[in-house]
Amino acid sequence: MVKSAKSILLNAYLTIQYLLMTRPIFIFCLSLLPSLTFAFDYENGEEINEVCAGCHGEFGQGGKEGEYPRLAGMPSEFLAKQLHLFRDRQRPNIAMVEYVDDRQMPDQDIQDISIFLEQITLKTKLPPVDETAPDFNAYERLLESKQLMQIPRAPGDIEKGRKIYRKECASCHGRDGMGDMKKAVPMLAGQYTNYLWRQVKKYREKIRIHDDEAPDEELLLDFSDEELTDIFAYLSIVDD
Ligand code: HEC
Ligand code: HEC
Repeated sequence: MVKSAKSILLNAYLTIQYLLMTRPIFIFCLSLLPSLTFAFDYENGEEINEVCAGCHGEFGQGGKEGEYPRLAGMPSEFLAKQLHLFRDRQRPNIAMVEYVDDRQMPDQDIQDISIFLEQITLKTKLPPVDETAPDFNAYERLLESKQLMQIPRAPGDIEKGRKIYRKECASCHGRDGMGDMKKAVPMLAGQYTNYLWRQVKKYREKIRIHDDEAPDEELLLDFSDEELTDIFAYLSIVDD
């Protein structure tokens, strides 16, 4: 009897010692939790994409001449940031409101659809094909052409545009407008010119914030419509 009381005490003592010893490790593990991202679930991304495809296209290629932007190949962090902004009603998007509320778009879903879309690479040209060949498949060819990233040539002075672009935009959006994966800066090349103009308007009116590090200074206010026309002319030929 006495012995077991002793051993209970000893056990309690050892347990307390153990907790004290491991507590810092336990707290350290807890502190890691918020920074841990969920594992990427491809199938979940694919399933969500069926909803998005109604507007943005099956391959995230966008549509209706830029009413719906291209999402394929965009940095996933940029896509996720936009989805969070839509969800938190900080970036207006009436078309998408019903798809991005908290209940329908938990963080895990935002991450899965963003990585799914980042991983889609669109071709810029179709391989040559003999349309008179007996095995030519018109339907397959049509499907293939839907996966193209090919922006129609926009009006403006390409050479002037290239110069302004390289000097003023390339440091963030990449040398040829292909974006920056690490810094989550979107691609501008391959994006519909109409869509880019709509965003210029939003940035100028401060409905969207262009540069989080300088939220009050909208850098597009420093450029005339003519300069932007030339920049967008240049960007429209990168995929040629
Ligand atoms: C009913 C049509 C519709 C559906 C469905 C839809 N979107 Fe959109 N989405 C839009 C429109 C319109 C815009 C452009 C808004 C603007 O002009 O600012 C947009 C913009 C975006 C943008 C911003 C892209 C950029 O380059 O700034 C992202 C990201 C996006 N959608 C992701 C999604 C995802 C992911 C889904 C599926 C869960 C989805 N959308 C479903 C209509 C739709
Ligand atoms: C300091 C870095 C930086 C510079 C310089 C910069 N951008 Fe951006 N740009 C960004 C970032 C970051 C975003 C995404 C911001 C957001 O979340 O809305 C962006 C977004 C855009 C978008 C919207 C794209 C989309 O898919 O929604 C357009 C259009 C754009 N920039 C045009 C330009 C042009 C044109 C120039 C040069 C005159 C330029 N930017 C210079 C960082 C920059």
